[in-house]
Amino acid sequence: MEPTSLFLFGLTTGVAVSAGARYVENLVMSRSVSSSPALPPLADRPRRRSVRYQDEVHRPDDDDSGDDIPSALVRLRKQFNVPAEKLTQIVRHMVAEMKKGLHDDHQTMKMIPSHVIRRPNGNETGSFLALDLGGSNFRVCEVILEGNGITRMRQKKFTVREDLKTGGGAELFDFLADCVASFMAETENKFNKEERKKLGFTFSFPVQQTSINAGVLMSWTKGFHASDVVGNDVVQLLQEAFHRKNVNVNVTALVNDTTGTLISHAYQSPNTYIGVILGTGTNAAYVEQLGNIPKLKDAASFNSDEMIINTEWGAFDQENVVLPFTEYDFKVDRASINPRQQAFEKVISGMYLGEIVRLVMLDLIETGELFAGKSSEILKTKYQFETAYMSRIERDHTLDLSDTKAVLEDIVKIPKTSRTDRVIVKGICELVGRRSARLSAAGIAAIVTKINRLDGCTVAVDGSLFELYPHFANRMRDALREILGLSAENIVLEQARDGSGQGAALIAALAEE
Ligand code: GLC
Repeated sequence: MEPTSLFLFGLTTGVAVSAGARYVENLVMSRSVSSSPALPPLADRPRRRSVRYQDEVHRPDDDDSGDDIPSALVRLRKQFNVPAEKLTQIVRHMVAEMKKGLHDDHQTMKMIPSHVIRRPNGNETGSFLALDLGGSNFRVCEVILEGNGITRMRQKKFTVREDLKTGGGAELFDFLADCVASFMAETENKFNKEERKKLGFTFSFPVQQTSINAGVLMSWTKGFHASDVVGNDVVQLLQEAFHRKNVNVNVTALVNDTTGTLISHAYQSPNTYIGVILGTGTNAAYVEQLGNIPKLKDAASFNSDEMIINTEWGAFDQENVVLPFTEYDFKVDRASINPRQQAFEKVISGMYLGEIVRLVMLDLIETGELFAGKSSEILKTKYQFETAYMSRIERDHTLDLSDTKAVLEDIVKIPKTSRTDRVIVKGICELVGRRSARLSAAGIAAIVTKINRLDGCTVAVDGSLFELYPHFANRMRDALREILGLSAENIVLEQARDGSGQGAALIAALAEE
């Protein structure tokens, strides 16, 4: 079947060019400090500018003491607030769980050795394909590393239909191969059919990596459920699909998006030790000392002291020991296709936040506290209240919350909303959005504590929540201060972009050496 392209090639060229230009600049800047091929040493790295935090506007409905707060919100605040002591408890538990995961397989936090032990030094050259599968879009990129820090990139995005996510594995991988074939056919620089193209595969799911280009899928996450993939080597599945479709490509690196984010950002900011994704899903990777990974039996065979670990923190606390799950979180979990899995992801990531808000709203409609007890078909349908609507509502600072009205009445089709209704809905979005940011900060604090980098460390963060959700970065910063005190000032959160494309190509280039 012909894959559907989300953006035509020509349309993405501008984006790709500007991303490429930024990348060139980054490479040039990094060259003076990145000549060592080892992972970045901590000390004395120049600190780069962190993202600018918007000032959060504290409105009357942010304030617990006001008399006119609808009682529903007061009640919900008690459930969704995560006080500093709770965050500290979460940090302690996560550090302990990380250690367990480094010690043995089959722990809640999988702590997967990525087999990435080096970072680029700017001299890498070659043309690579990079694939990025991890959500509703599948991206194919051609990344040309020209040496001397010069890079060019082209890309094309395809929509992964729901039936492909949950159908047969072979169909999913055939679809990926079709997309690559279509990209190669359309690309202006016609690919030389004789030349076997090298490819970095960003596959953003929990994979037990056995080498830099082999790994077995442990479980699906983020709504994927394709059959006959769990327990198999995803590189082999992709390679077989290429073979079936006559695509002359060799998969030379298998990468998680967090590892790609860390590597591509370390290229410009050498003090980067942590890569975080806060988008449809959530996860983090970081630089660990090889000596601290007892489960890695062949550690001595790696010619390095360090390796990037993919934590798969989305699975943290699926036993529900510390996370402040509300009745709504339990409902989301029970109705999901992976119940009792990915607990941390389900209270943080973009895939679930809108769904939590939807369930809270339905509850308040039931009690007659919202929309005069009236609902809509859209609101009654699972996953139809999108996290993007929350973003829009949280950004609405008009006096009568007119944009919130537009979302609720025009998109969600609630027949009529009062201003109080809209204040309540905005309040719910704030509670759920703030909780997500604070819990993400607890995850970062846990990693920084584990690797003893409280004196300075850059965290590369990618994903739509961090990039687009209003106040998200500010709320994370507030929580980091509450957890770490003054040391929080040493933790620099930087917006990272396109680790999945660029990072995969760089790792493919490194794998070659
Ligand atoms: C899910 C995946 C993980 C990925 C994250 C962000 O948690 O299991 O591998 O890194 O989403 O895309």
